[in-house]
Parts: sequence; C-alpha cells; structure tokens
Amino acid sequence: MPQLSDRAAQLAADPAEYAADAVDAEYAAYRRTVEASFREWYADSRDSWTHHVTNERVTHFALAAAPTTGLDPDRPPRVLDVGCGRGRQTAVLAERLGADATGLDLLDVWDTVPPAAGTARFHQGDFLDYRGPAVDLLVDNGCLHHQRREDWPGWAAHTRALLRPGGSLVVSVFLSPDGEVSEHLLADGRHNWWLPEDSVTALFAAQGLTPTGRLEIDRDFAYQGLHLKYLALSFAAPLDGEAR
Ligand SMILES: C[S@@+](CC[C@H](N)C(=O)[O-])C[C@H]1O[C@@H](n2cnc3c(N)ncnc32)[C@H](O)[C@@H]1O
Repeated sequence: MPQLSDRAAQLAADPAEYAADAVDAEYAAYRRTVEASFREWYADSRDSWTHHVTNERVTHFALAAAPTTGLDPDRPPRVLDVGCGRGRQTAVLAERLGADATGLDLLDVWDTVPPAAGTARFHQGDFLDYRGPAVDLLVDNGCLHHQRREDWPGWAAHTRALLRPGGSLVVSVFLSPDGEVSEHLLADGRHNWWLPEDSVTALFAAQGLTPTGRLEIDRDFAYQGLHLKYLALSFAAPLDGEAR
C-alpha cells in the first residue's frame, strides 16, 4: 500500500478540509489564469481601456458618487481602486478628491504620473486577500466581471466589509445587451461576463447596499451584431444603526 504524506493522510481523514483545499486550489488556479491573461494584454499594449474616453466617464461618475458627508475631518478621504491596472484612475481620484488612494491589482503594472494633490499608493495582490482600513469610496472599474460566478457573492461581501458606514461603491461592468447574464470565456481561460443591471444590483443589495445612481456608457463597439456598453452603478453603505 502506498504511503500517504502527512498532509494527504490528514486530508483523507477530513474530507471537509479536503473539499475546502480543493476550492482554494481552484480559486488560486483561476487567479493565475487572470494574471497571465492581463499580463499579456498589458505587455502587448492591448489595454485599450486604460486611456479610453469611456474610463474618463467612469471617473466622473465616481467623483460624483464620492460621499460628501460622514468624512473624518482629521484625515483625507480614503479611496480603494480595485483592479486598478496602470493606476491612471487611482491618481485622478486621489488628485480630484485630495484623497489617500490605494490602487490594488494582481499585477504591478502601474506607471501613472503621481497626483498633484492627495496621494496614490499601489498594492499588488488579490482583492479577496486584501485587508485594509475601511474606505470612503471603493471603485471597481472592470474587475468584477472577470471573476468566476461562484466568487461574486464573496466579492460583494468583501466589498461591503471594506466600506465605512455611509461609504460609496462604484462598480462598472460589461452591460448585457439582452438582459441575460452571459459568459464569454476567452481562449486563455479568463472570464468576461456580460451582466444585466438587476443582477449587479441584487448582488450588492444582498449586502445591504442601496443603489444611488447609474450610467450607461457606450463603448462604440459592436460584437457579433451586438452594440456593447458599460454600465456604471453606484451604491451607498448603510449608516451606523441603519438596518442591513
Ligand atoms: C479591465 S482591467 C481594468 C483596469 C482599470 N480599472 C482601468 O479601468 O484602467 C481589470 C484589472 O483587474 C485586475 N484584476 C482582475 N482580477 C483581480 C483580482 N482578483 N484582484 C485584483 N485585481 C484583479 C487585472 O489584473 C486588470 O488589471
């Protein structure tokens, strides 16, 4: 009979832990897929989104959604830009809000000019592993729709946990042109989900967030006869004492 390693023997004795390990391993494998995919896109300068006018529209939407009340007078507003890519939006948000902005990404591809006001710092890592102080504004511009479907609820819960009471979330996704959640798997294994508004709203409403605004942004791009848009949504976290 073959000898099991100590770890394998432990897992054999505890199938629940084995299952949890398998789930973690699958998540880690998908994360490597996303990293490799985006690394190639940035290296080949295919990151058309970075300087596209559609991103400026998301930035303006995020600036308008940033909370104006409940800010701590003793420190600058805190912003977290999840999946910040090259960090351009992180820097603009820092500058325009005079904020202490953190850009977070799986890849260390940030190469943006430092903001003239506020501060922009960058952190390499996975969003679900990220731990930090609660923020006034969390921006997720084009990151959620690349995650596995089974990770969306955890993603939304982690987003909620990082918002201070009364804080704002801005999330921008590929808008589904036919009202269905549809998957567009790239050849390299990365997911591109097209999402209807009600699905995104339900995901964050389940965490107690209240919808506060929406903006459809034309990508001026047709694919398989479909006219594609982004959808930016904003949400507010409940204030202390408000029902969740
Ligand atoms: C479409 S790009 C958008 C970049 C940036 N927000 C912008 O609009 O210029 C998505 C980014 O999310 C990052 N990303 C994807 N999954 C992530 C995760 N789980 N944690 C952190 N970053 C992630 C990718 O590396 C990529 O840079």
